[in-house]
Amino acid sequence: MTFSWFTTARPIVALAPMAGVTDASYRQLIKRIAPEVVVYTEFLSTDALAFGGKKTMKMLAFDPTIERPFIVQVFGHKPEHFLEAAKIIEQLGADGIDINMGCPAAKVVSSCHGAALIQKPDLAAELVAATVKSVSIPVSVKTRLGWDSATTLIPFCKKLEEAGAAAFAIHGRRFCDKFTGKADWTQIYELKKNVGVPVIGNGDITSAADAVEKIGNLDGVMVGRGTFGNPWIMRKVCDALRERSGERLAVSDQQPDVQMTFAQKIPFILEHCELAVRIKGEQRGMLEMRRHLSSYVKGFEGASDMRQKLVRVEKFAEAKAILCS
Ligand SMILES: Cc1cc2nc3c(=O)[nH]c(=O)nc-3n(C[C@H](O)[C@H](O)[C@H](O)COP(=O)(O)O)c2cc1C
Repeated sequence: MTFSWFTTARPIVALAPMAGVTDASYRQLIKRIAPEVVVYTEFLSTDALAFGGKKTMKMLAFDPTIERPFIVQVFGHKPEHFLEAAKIIEQLGADGIDINMGCPAAKVVSSCHGAALIQKPDLAAELVAATVKSVSIPVSVKTRLGWDSATTLIPFCKKLEEAGAAAFAIHGRRFCDKFTGKADWTQIYELKKNVGVPVIGNGDITSAADAVEKIGNLDGVMVGRGTFGNPWIMRKVCDALRERSGERLAVSDQQPDVQMTFAQKIPFILEHCELAVRIKGEQRGMLEMRRHLSSYVKGFEGASDMRQKLVRVEKFAEAKAILCS
């Protein structure tokens, strides 16, 4: 069935796109824990896709039997490259395309990508229109409150909606905030009152209670860093929001609200390693797993000793031996 932001089940719970984190193994792990989560890829360059860049094309790989809805996030600033990239993404079988208009990294912004587009609303609208024109899957936008003020959020998004944007995910910080301070969701609630398309709120959700407190009038929430070392948060967020909307959970679905012990987490951590190894090969997979392994052991007894060993692992068997020691 074709995916639509308008009809997909509410509340929407999305895994935030995160470069260097939300690769296929991370997305698949999250989907095993919470199958209803909408997953996004890391941001991919439309320039690289348009030129068939091998590394970027590889990053498009996904498992259609698990990763649905599957949203590919892209960045760039050339409409003709968006057009080409969008066709490739649609042919691949993705459910949607999301345009990054929020990344504050200096390298990204100085190339007129990511958050730089907030200051170029005409170009931003042109990119949305070019993408919408070339595919039949929905095109959404992820952005921030504004550049140095949130007053531009509503006019900016209205312009993009007119250009064909089918949904917005808003990180409650301005470009100038980078990742500092607390995310401000009040402007996101205002945006929802002013556009006709779904709006998802993002920023600083680190527990199910945060999600319940923050969702307000929005269609959904998006969680990023809160999943680091704690992918189980997605199960709790989904259940808490379902309960909030009056749905009674089956007894089998009810999660005891207790912290998992480290021993209970080990099978999931090993599964994450196995997915990484299967998808990227042992050398690359385990290298990239190091940061996750370090997050998983945070806060547990003997964590610092274990972390020092885990950040050097090269083989799956080594990680298993350390975790199970
Ligand atoms: C390591 C990392 C990589 C990120 N990469 C992306 C990205 O590729 N695309 C994007 O739109 N946002 C990216 N973000 C921003 C997140 O999607 C999200 O908006 C931000 O982390 C705030 O949400 P949180 O407080 O739930 O983490 C990244 C954030 C982090 C921490």
